[in-house]
Amino acid sequence: MLKIGVLVSGGGTNLQAIIDAVESGKITNAEIVTVVASNTKAYAIERAKKYNIPSIVISRKAFASQEEHDTVLCEHMKNCGVDLIVMAGYLSIVGEMLIKEFHNRIINIHPSLIPSFCGQGFYGLRVHEAALERGVKVTGATVHIVNEICDGGPILLQKAVEVKDGDTAEVLQKRVMEQAEWTILPQAIDMIANNKISI
Ligand code: GRF
Repeated sequence: MLKIGVLVSGGGTNLQAIIDAVESGKITNAEIVTVVASNTKAYAIERAKKYNIPSIVISRKAFASQEEHDTVLCEHMKNCGVDLIVMAGYLSIVGEMLIKEFHNRIINIHPSLIPSFCGQGFYGLRVHEAALERGVKVTGATVHIVNEICDGGPILLQKAVEVKDGDTAEVLQKRVMEQAEWTILPQAIDMIANNKISI
């Protein structure tokens, strides 16, 4: 049974997609053992509570340094026996310590087709604004391994989404979430849980 620790910061729709996939059997051999929010306001916490999934807030602001924050986060994940860390709309920094301790065992969902529109500063709506500014006809989402390069780890899954005339960043973000993120993140977890992905 793969033990998953999910890192969240916002609405938690990607967390919900994982929860729904476990409930429906789309994800097998896996369970979410902890949800860690980077702030107390993350609605994702409410989603975890509804399914009796233990949640905790570990906020960078509560620590004097990134290292102290990372130490607490790392210890928490190890104490929960986490095998795979999933960044689901997580907007805080994942430090070197965690990346080393969980080498090739952290995945992230990014709302573009990497290598487009990724790297420092590309998160949330900014990603879709950049896609619209460039005029791409196709965008999408990517699940990748997290390493020391921002959005630079090995790509596991991608799914394309059409950009439509008149799209606003908000409309495009919603389409990418609905048609791509909420599909490929659970799919990647199920593949890892059932040894269908070699990294
Ligand atoms: C969204 O911008 C999504 O594209 C990205 O994180 C943000 C919030 O996701 N992955 P969530 O609703 O908190 O999962």
